[in-house]
Amino acid sequence: MSIIVNGSATPLPPDPRVSLLDLLREHLKLTGTKKGCNQGACGACTVLLDGERVVSCLTLAVQAEGRAVTTVEGLAQSDKLHPLQQAFIDRDGFQCGYCTPGQICSAIGMAAELERGVPSHVTGDLTAGTIAASREELAERMSGNLCRCGAHNGIIDAIAATFISKEAAQPYRPDGPEMAA
Ligand code: FES
Ligand code: FES
Repeated sequence: MSIIVNGSATPLPPDPRVSLLDLLREHLKLTGTKKGCNQGACGACTVLLDGERVVSCLTLAVQAEGRAVTTVEGLAQSDKLHPLQQAFIDRDGFQCGYCTPGQICSAIGMAAELERGVPSHVTGDLTAGTIAASREELAERMSGNLCRCGAHNGIIDAIAATFISKEAAQPYRPDGPEMAA
């Protein structure tokens, strides 16, 4: 029994109770993925499982058997950061950085959901072919990833700059115009 972690086949632990998060952090020493609440409430442990975002604290490692797991360590190409990683730096998308790996993995999965037309709680027109990626829409879709440092505005700026448009990613001002779709 094995899973693919960042492109490499990895044996699963014999104990079926091991979470995917503990497999990554404790067994494989991939400590980029963070443990916050360990109960599915904070998003710090988010990784991609076959391209879908999952909270790895609530995912058993055996559930990932034969599947591809991507962690924050698997996003950069040698010394070239993933564009979203660079955008987090450029747009002040973090302070302490504890939530950042989960935010980045979650945003990559979220962008794919948006592209597939998966609606969110705040999506207005469910019959429209495409979903307008307003600031409200992005914030709602990222609401499962908490940031104690309060870097949420920079996080949304970075996501918008990477996946939506440069204009959409203008720094947020509370009294400014709503971000264009
Ligand atoms: Fe998994 Fe908080 S550690 S959601
Ligand atoms: Fe510190 Fe988000 S940057 S918790």
